[in-house]
Amino acid sequence: MLLTGATGRIGRRIAGPLVAAGHHVTALVRSRGGLDPAARMERLGLAGLTVLEGELTGRARSLQPGAWETLVHAALDGHSYPRDARAQRRLNVDATVDLIETLRPRRLVLLSTVRVAGARRGRALESELDVGQAFHNAGEECMLEAEGAARAAGKRCGVEIVVLRLGHVEGPDAEGGLDALSTFVGLVAAEAWNPRHWKSQLRVPGLKPGPIALSPAAWIGAAVAAVATSTTAAGRCLHLLAPPPSQEAFFAAVAERAEFPGLRVQTPRRGALRNPTRLEARAHAALGTQLEYLGSDLDFDRTEAAAALSEVGIEAPDLGGTGLRRYVGGLLHL
Ligand SMILES: NC(=O)c1ccc[n+]([C@@H]2O[C@H](COP(=O)([O-])OP(=O)(O)OC[C@H]3O[C@@H](n4cnc5c(N)ncnc54)[C@H](OP(=O)(O)O)[C@@H]3O)[C@@H](O)[C@H]2O)c1
Repeated sequence: MLLTGATGRIGRRIAGPLVAAGHHVTALVRSRGGLDPAARMERLGLAGLTVLEGELTGRARSLQPGAWETLVHAALDGHSYPRDARAQRRLNVDATVDLIETLRPRRLVLLSTVRVAGARRGRALESELDVGQAFHNAGEECMLEAEGAARAAGKRCGVEIVVLRLGHVEGPDAEGGLDALSTFVGLVAAEAWNPRHWKSQLRVPGLKPGPIALSPAAWIGAAVAAVATSTTAAGRCLHLLAPPPSQEAFFAAVAERAEFPGLRVQTPRRGALRNPTRLEARAHAALGTQLEYLGSDLDFDRTEAAAALSEVGIEAPDLGGTGLRRYVGGLLHL
């Protein structure tokens, strides 16, 4: 099995569980920051993999065709607002197609995002791809194009494509940068210590019953590793998510765990919240692109994922009641 993107936020969570599941895994890693691939993997505490130096944009053809039965492809740029949109497309679309055409594995597992559903309401099905949706940002559209291009190349080359769409995954990236929800929760907890804010309100613009799409980091590695080779997942797209808590429940759990009772979800009558306080403006900035998804009542169907996970004996994470409080506690202590 070949794993790309092992040093990334998602790939590094998948690498260990793939090895633990008994796969012989080769990780394609590039040299960076004066460190060679092996040193980078060691620094991340990733052991038990064969490390192969490689760069995907331009030189995928140096990889040996037919050498890998399964390719788990997590070397994708998931930024919503990339600095260089053409570079994002080269990696997500062109390099993915190049990998399929060059390596021709039996199966390619593409790590994507539920955000390809775009800006719409109702329920997004796992089988849906381009339904004429509008997008919040360029990153969503690029990832949708990558999924479509992978499926088309898979069909041409006889490669089975499995798409795994994830929700928000918490935790640090390779440089130690935190995800948006952890940054937000950390800021709220820090401000809760300031007596000036003991009676402050902190409004988050959202939709109280709207779902919040989360793929807990502690679960995602094992879930991806297990379905990567499962027969039920063959040729399918799976929404690998926890049954979503409502935005109201999520932010109530943050208010409780961070001890900031004035935190609550408020639906603005129109557009953005009017007259945000300085604290609210900082908190909204910490939420980053997550803010674009609050206020949305788009739900993600998980029928195919449930079937595939049940085949491999993995339960969906529990983010209700105490499960949600534990998850938010984890965001606080990262
Ligand atoms: N993070 C999340 O919360 C989240 C949520 C939902 C879905 N996803 C999806 O998961 C996928 C991976 O995202 P991520 O957050 O793990 O991204 P990431 O942290 O930016 O990691 C990207 C990985 O790709 C590698 N890479 C980038 N360009 C490369 C190239 N030219 N050649 C070889 N390797 C290259 C990077 O290697 P270097 O370390 O060498 O740069 C890194 O290992 C994306 O499709 C994203 O949409 C992520």
